[in-house]
Amino acid sequence: MRKWNFSAGPAAIPEEVLSEAQAELLEWKDSGMSIMEMSHRSSEYKSLANKARQDLIDLLNIPNNYQVLFLQGGATLQFSMIPMNFADQKIADYLLTGTWSKKAINEASKITAVNIAASSEACNFTEAPSQENFDESEDAAYFHYVANETIQGIALHQPPKSKSPLIADMSSVVLSEPIDVSKFSMIYAGAQKNIGPAGLTVCIIKQELLDTAHTDLPAMLQYSEHANADSMLNTPPTFAWYMSGKVFAWLKSLGGLEAIAKINNTKAKTLYEYIDQSDLYFNPVSKDNRSKMNIPFILNNSDLDVEFLQASYNAGLLNLKGHRSVGGMRASIYNAIPQDAVDALISFMEEFESKHR
Ligand SMILES: Cc1ncc(COP(=O)(O)O)c(C=O)c1O
Repeated sequence: MRKWNFSAGPAAIPEEVLSEAQAELLEWKDSGMSIMEMSHRSSEYKSLANKARQDLIDLLNIPNNYQVLFLQGGATLQFSMIPMNFADQKIADYLLTGTWSKKAINEASKITAVNIAASSEACNFTEAPSQENFDESEDAAYFHYVANETIQGIALHQPPKSKSPLIADMSSVVLSEPIDVSKFSMIYAGAQKNIGPAGLTVCIIKQELLDTAHTDLPAMLQYSEHANADSMLNTPPTFAWYMSGKVFAWLKSLGGLEAIAKINNTKAKTLYEYIDQSDLYFNPVSKDNRSKMNIPFILNNSDLDVEFLQASYNAGLLNLKGHRSVGGMRASIYNAIPQDAVDALISFMEEFESKHR
């Protein structure tokens, strides 16, 4: 029996999408084979792949001076590919807001000089640095930030204003609400939260930035090679691409990003409101920077953590353990998690609290 899965990633996939894939698993359309067994060069597969890409373009309203690439290597490979392609012996500016931006900085530092334009490490990443405190370089290659820190539950709800081309890791927030893509030179996201199964990484790159990229790198590390090959430089993760296409179609059928944003806002609001009035649980993040996707909460008596996790598991609420570096609990409530799941979580938390007054 399927239960409510609050995993941070790989995360829940809409049940409708899983059921459709199940129905098509043995034979896709009248092709005589599973989608997993089909050549990525076949006309059937190419039309499916193009439709998925077009649906993503429609959902995010991506202007036509952007390339939309479907790559592999996870968001983590982007931590290296970005400086490899774009640093060009210039300094690169980074915002340090949590675990993932730290990892991006560590990787970039192996390739280029990095300036940390602002950091919230001193307050243990419980807020994001404010724009007034940015110390940007004069001639940076780009400005990188993580729009939603999945582990700390910190979000920058508006893109920062940067002097250099803005690059955002949107792994855990992409497709959760409308965004103005034209404010960014590049957006990237690993698929396994709001897009589909692991194995696919979406990169949306402004042509103007792409034109500055290095062309002397190994082909697999070069964005322009991937763009020229329609993201099929080698065999792409065909099943993950197919599943992501289904998620895009599902989102469109719900009414697109405005519709899902409304649902997401209500989900996050109900959970934060409950946590804030509770005597047992608290969320340490400053209110302006609270993520709507990943909601950490700490029990004011950590001796109860094990019992909480066991009892929530028994109640059909899975994967609520916080990241080991932060402790406590975390509920990831991506697009595929409905309000019913959040309501079930709150009821459980209430009951648990009433037993431990
Ligand atoms: C914000 C963010 N960036 C990067 C990553 C790394 O993604 P991947 O495992 O796809 O390399 C994650 C994974 O959870 C993430 O949450």
